[in-house]
Amino acid sequence: MILVTGGAGFIGSNFVLDWLAQSDEAVVNLDALTYAGNLRNLESLKGNPHHIFVHGDILDHDLVGALFAKYRPRAIVHFAAESHVDRSIFGPDAFFRTNVMGTVSLLNCAKAFYETLEGSERQAFRFLHVSTDEVYGSLTFDEAPFTEDTPYRPNSPYSASKASSDHAVRSWFRTYGLPVLTTNCSNNYGPYQFPEKLIPLVINNALSGLPLPIYGDGKNIRDWLYVKDHCDAIRLILANGRVGETYNVGGHNERDNLTIVKTICRILDELQPRRDGQSYTEQITFVKDRPGHDRRYAIDATKLSRELGWRPKEHFESGIRKTVQWYLNHLDWVDGVKTGAYREWTAKQYSL
Ligand code: NAD
Ligand code: TYD
Repeated sequence: MILVTGGAGFIGSNFVLDWLAQSDEAVVNLDALTYAGNLRNLESLKGNPHHIFVHGDILDHDLVGALFAKYRPRAIVHFAAESHVDRSIFGPDAFFRTNVMGTVSLLNCAKAFYETLEGSERQAFRFLHVSTDEVYGSLTFDEAPFTEDTPYRPNSPYSASKASSDHAVRSWFRTYGLPVLTTNCSNNYGPYQFPEKLIPLVINNALSGLPLPIYGDGKNIRDWLYVKDHCDAIRLILANGRVGETYNVGGHNERDNLTIVKTICRILDELQPRRDGQSYTEQITFVKDRPGHDRRYAIDATKLSRELGWRPKEHFESGIRKTVQWYLNHLDWVDGVKTGAYREWTAKQYSL
């Protein structure tokens, strides 16, 4: 079996659902259920004996140690994190607590367990750390995309905390020989993404008749990857990645934010037209820029495709259409996450 952390969040729940759709190997899913964790994402696994959900914090050393002892996972796939850049600007401490100290705590537990293993169990054990391209900092419009050799230059408290965790993971390999793998992925989109991130926020605001807030001039570029393609890459790297290596994962889909928002509006105009016949683009509003806003991210995923044969299956046009349709089909899911805490956040960030 494998141990997954953060498997009730956006990418983690997609990963657990995909894993169990393709394999009988059980998953122990450890998640603290912060505002971003949602058991409704995992509803379809009710009664599935291969899914064991554990409500707990990755910093709880005793709990994690007990999970290793009881389930003896052959691998740990570590998603749990504080993940939203804007929240990290308001309150960086939680990011360093979970992303840095939480990762260190997990590394310690994994190391203690690994040291008890022998033979083939020891050979097979892996610690896969899920990280982000944001650790590399910002590119200008004409710079080459990030490779695994690009120096780390994080600019937000979020990316600085992820960069620190990547360094910790590397050092547990170099110093203690823990068999680690690290993935640095670009921006994901798809089902179950919490509507504080650009794409689900815009879909939700559009349907709710609210402004579609675009930071700065809307020309910041992200390299978008459909979440299922990220999950495929993680499974492949877990199976065949070279121990101690890092792998960049990206979709070859660079788009500026204004283009993303207009694309969503165009799809919504077609699938769920506004009652007044106007386009959703009428709701676009330029707002104050994010402090330290990275201009451009772009991923060179050549290493992953050359070594392991990975290619994204989804094009942006098809992936974004699927995503908009998913949100239209799951308005109850969106309503369920717009709790008091969500309203407090949007009030603070957007004065809505
Ligand atoms: P998310 O915020 O949707 O989910 C995070 C999950 O971690 C939640 O279920 C939350 O309850 C859980 N969690 C938080 N603190 C915890 C703790 N102390 N103990 C246990 N569980 C805890 O995040 P996401 O977008 O699914 O991202 C998952 C991982 O992928 C993160 O490590 C993130 O840095 C990385 N990543 C995300 C993206 C992206 O575009 N979303 C891109 C590249 C990498
Ligand atoms: P986000 O989804 O927060 O991801 P990240 O900051 O990790 O890349 O933001 C994606 C891009 O969209 C980023 O350039 C910031 C921008 N953005 C807006 O313009 N308006 C918004 O309301 C949000 C949440 C993001």
